[in-house]
Amino acid sequence: MKSEHKLFKGKTLAILSGGGDTPAINSSIESIRNRASMLGFKVYGIRKGWKGLLGDGDIVDLSHQPYDGIYGGTALLSSRTNPFPSKKNPENRVPQILQNIKRYKIDVLVTIGGDDTNGAAKRLYETEGIPVIGFPKTIDNDLRTHSMHTFEGKSIEAVLCPGFPSAAKGMMEFTARLKTTAESHSRIMVVEVMGRDAGWLTGTTVFGGAELALVPEFEMTKERKDFFMETVKETYLSSPKKSLIIAVSEGVRWWDDAKGKVDMVYASSELDEYGHPRFGGISGVIASEIYAKTGIDARAQISGYYPRSGECRNYDRRLTMTLADKVVDLLLREEYGQMPVMNKVVPYQELEEFHTTSIDMGQIGNCPLASDYYDVDSFTFTPAYHDFLKLVLGKPHFLSFDAEFPVVVPEK
Ligand code: F6P
Repeated sequence: MKSEHKLFKGKTLAILSGGGDTPAINSSIESIRNRASMLGFKVYGIRKGWKGLLGDGDIVDLSHQPYDGIYGGTALLSSRTNPFPSKKNPENRVPQILQNIKRYKIDVLVTIGGDDTNGAAKRLYETEGIPVIGFPKTIDNDLRTHSMHTFEGKSIEAVLCPGFPSAAKGMMEFTARLKTTAESHSRIMVVEVMGRDAGWLTGTTVFGGAELALVPEFEMTKERKDFFMETVKETYLSSPKKSLIIAVSEGVRWWDDAKGKVDMVYASSELDEYGHPRFGGISGVIASEIYAKTGIDARAQISGYYPRSGECRNYDRRLTMTLADKVVDLLLREEYGQMPVMNKVVPYQELEEFHTTSIDMGQIGNCPLASDYYDVDSFTFTPAYHDFLKLVLGKPHFLSFDAEFPVVVPEK
């Protein structure tokens, strides 16, 4: 395409990333930047999410710059800044944002984020007419992308959100590694997994060898907790190596004997600008209760930022490029207030533009785990979820060492 014929010559597209980072954001930025540049846009990066549009603005030029899309996190930096008034910050920042969009002559805004960032973008589109395109992102995989998964003839509403595939791979490997130490000490290992309100990421531990799991979608009442303790003991005692990995979501609601109600365990009760508290520590509570109730040695391990960190994995790389192809389509049609998504959950080889569609950003919101994916009675993920994981991750990653050594009896 000769530059003088480029369709959007003289126009500027700006990209921002908001909310928790993921290993796939740089890949998204690079893919969007490359495609927008080919269309003729000058491409800017807004630093620190919405914060980069406050005050004098914090904007960099991404056009014709080298960019490493494999490196995890976001080179544009991120924040949980909310343009609209919140309990934590009553100030309405919209006028500052509008002023900077005008000052920097930004024609189109692409917002890489989850429900919070894209929800704010959608409001700006609707109330102020700012041309925005949302781009999905979260390791929690709870952003409603309307991606369908077909399992045994049934269509299940799933989510396929950039960031999740890389985090899932990290979580699978993390769990598989823990197995060796759990086995060496005949222990129960309680692994805590990020995910806030949804158990999608917690479920990925089953591909690393976790056998039982607790998710935020189903609260652990007193009765369910008693039943869970029995299940834990039985599963441990019947395991060949006398070891067990249990995955728990950070936001699990767990019966607290002292309080006489179910509650969550917070790392900090301070809320961010979108009203979210910070979770952390439920695994320690559960491990010590398992020991107290069953006498089996149990330890807690918080996986924390491990799945959120590190490089963009293959599936995410191709997913972000495919969704960026759909951004081109939206730009060409000048369709704003939309977010590109995969219309179905497909294996790596089928991540192609013809499986994408776009949804109105008003339809995103949070998507909990479908009941087809988790069996409340056995505290396990179902075959349907295993199939979903197979599409995204390929094979499970089970380490095992099954040597049976003959026992030596001393001679008489
Ligand atoms: O939303 C992504 C996420 O990683 C959640 O799983 C987690 O609860 C939260 O972000 C932690 O956010 P922060 O790093 O800002 O404390």
